[in-house]
Amino acid sequence: MKSKRLGGDGTGHVLVFDKGDEVVEQLLAFAKQEQVTAASFSGIGAFSDEDLKRVFREGRNRAGRPLWVMPWSVTQNLTDEDMDSLIAALREIPPNPNLVPAPELREQPPSGAQ
Ligand code: HEM
Repeated sequence: MKSKRLGGDGTGHVLVFDKGDEVVEQLLAFAKQEQVTAASFSGIGAFSDEDLKRVFREGRNRAGRPLWVMPWSVTQNLTDEDMDSLIAALREIPPNPNLVPAPELREQPPSGAQ
């Protein structure tokens, strides 16, 4: 297996497996070595600081899609210093290894919905 660290904030990696590699075994060893935890895959652990700032300032996810309901109007006017403090505080919270399914957005409400 070969690995390469991506640019940006340095939290991303590319892994390329060779034919015959023990994928799970090597992934676990890699995760241990690089201190990649469950929180790096789900929730805000998978978000860079810049991604989070976009959520809190613009109400948009990483693909640029508007986030409905997410109350970003509360955080949009934070100073840069307060924003950094908020993100630092959120990153102190132990992760909950709960995988939330991707949202399903419909053009029309499902039939039968009020
Ligand atoms: C510190 C508190 C919060 C944090 C760190 C946070 C963070 C996030 C992030 C990162 C996303 C984007 C997920 C994605 O990639 O699609 C998101 C979406 C969302 N948030 Fe929050 N959120 C918080 C509080 C809330 C609260 C209080 C509500 C509701 C009252 C809420 C409702 C939502 C909803 C409904 C979405 C999905 C919107 C969509 O997919 O269109 N969030 N949140």
